[in-house]
Amino acid sequence: MTAESQLTRLGLFDARVPRYTSYPTAPHFNSCTGPEDFRNWIGLIPEGSRISLYLHVPFCRRLCWFCACRTQGTTSDEPVRAYVEVLKAELRLLQAELPAGVTLSRLHWGGGTPTLLAPDLMRDLARTVFDVVPMGEGAEFSVEIDPNEIDDARLDALAEAGMNRASIGVQDFDPDIQKSIGRDQSFEVTKLAADKLRARGIRSLNADILFGLPHQTRARIADSVQKLLSLGPDRVALYGYAHVPWMARRQVMIPSDSLPRPEERLKLFETARDLFVADGYDEIGIDHFALPTDGLAVAAREGRLRRNFQGYTDDLAPALIGLGASSISRFPQGYAQNAPSTSAHTKAIREGRFSTAKGHGFAGQDKLRARMIEALMCDFRIDSTELRSSFGISDAELQEMYALAAREFGDMVTVDAAGLAVPEKGRPLTRMIARVFDAYDLSKAGHSPAV
Ligand SMILES: C[S@@+](CC[C@H](N)C(=O)[O-])C[C@H]1O[C@@H](n2cnc3c(N)ncnc32)[C@H](O)[C@@H]1O
Ligand code: SF4
Repeated sequence: MTAESQLTRLGLFDARVPRYTSYPTAPHFNSCTGPEDFRNWIGLIPEGSRISLYLHVPFCRRLCWFCACRTQGTTSDEPVRAYVEVLKAELRLLQAELPAGVTLSRLHWGGGTPTLLAPDLMRDLARTVFDVVPMGEGAEFSVEIDPNEIDDARLDALAEAGMNRASIGVQDFDPDIQKSIGRDQSFEVTKLAADKLRARGIRSLNADILFGLPHQTRARIADSVQKLLSLGPDRVALYGYAHVPWMARRQVMIPSDSLPRPEERLKLFETARDLFVADGYDEIGIDHFALPTDGLAVAAREGRLRRNFQGYTDDLAPALIGLGASSISRFPQGYAQNAPSTSAHTKAIREGRFSTAKGHGFAGQDKLRARMIEALMCDFRIDSTELRSSFGISDAELQEMYALAAREFGDMVTVDAAGLAVPEKGRPLTRMIARVFDAYDLSKAGHSPAV
């Protein structure tokens, strides 16, 4: 049987499975978790430890049709200014709860488009952040940059504030594809943004590109990847385009029949992957590539790669606090998500309380299963010794769980005394294999195509 027919038989081209940026996944969060839990979990952060902080800016000047992110369009600055005041007030609420001596391991501004903040707002927000939680030694401050929505003054403000990693949204350089996804962005504009970032001493550049876009062909994605490689990014996220018009209404602008078929999506991914690997990038997890010197590649080699809401990370801080509308926080005790709408979030913060609307407190086997899924997504293997010592689970119980995966996936997984591993040929199935260890009802959660 060819590799493709084996993948077909196992359902790769029909399945919809979570991307497992958390376990349980966000559709399983419920309203039993609220602002009190969020406050308590902040209070349990050890004094003098390190945390990570995510700030969400839910605004964009343009609304790209393909985008599934939670964001709203605005042409005026007023709502953005008002929102930054809310973020600052939320930071002050955090300050009141945060144990002494806590410093930052990672700070990330995402969205939406954080680069639509005017320079004075960027400076003001950064000052407030560092007043509440100072940067720790070697901390990373990253910002999502829309090359169409940035200029010298804003780049200066970000660089002065200490941004040391920038993440550039590319998607695809082909003008026809850009037209069909409602996102014009010439190669020249993207290159200028990258050059200006480097000129300001930003040492680490990430880029996001997509496979599975309308009208995308192997030749077109190869051309886009070559162009991207000419910019020399340190890290690349190669995400599969998720077409979910029932969730992201704008995507109705993209006709389903313009999308490549699932079998072709896999070929598009492989075409791009082969080019990155040939150019010296290490493959990281299921959809990232990094230069061998990049922190993500080093972490992957040393078994320190982790998965979080932004994809892959080398951050080991036990608490990631998300501020702003819809942001999700992760603590050793569970997940907490802020009110999704800007208005509900704003109302809560103006009333002096956190807006936590739902979440999940870890119970039972949650943490064990979360680690099994994370290990698969990061390392393509589950280490029995680690699980036995961290969770006190017996070898017999583990073997029983592994047997479920072996029964479903045959030689696409290998099981031995060391644990379970996914060999090279089984890697496209990784999210489906991870699903075997997910104890929650998946009819709620499987929104992305498995490939
Ligand atoms: C929240 S967006 C912010 C990027 C920034 N606003 C920009 O436009 O450059 C972050 C990334 O999410 C990814 N993304 C958005 N919609 C997606 C979809 N439907 N499927 C897969 N990835 C998507 C894109 O690669 C995008 O760069
Ligand atoms: S891709 Fe970026 S600019 Fe476009 S709608 Fe999404 S968040 Fe906004």
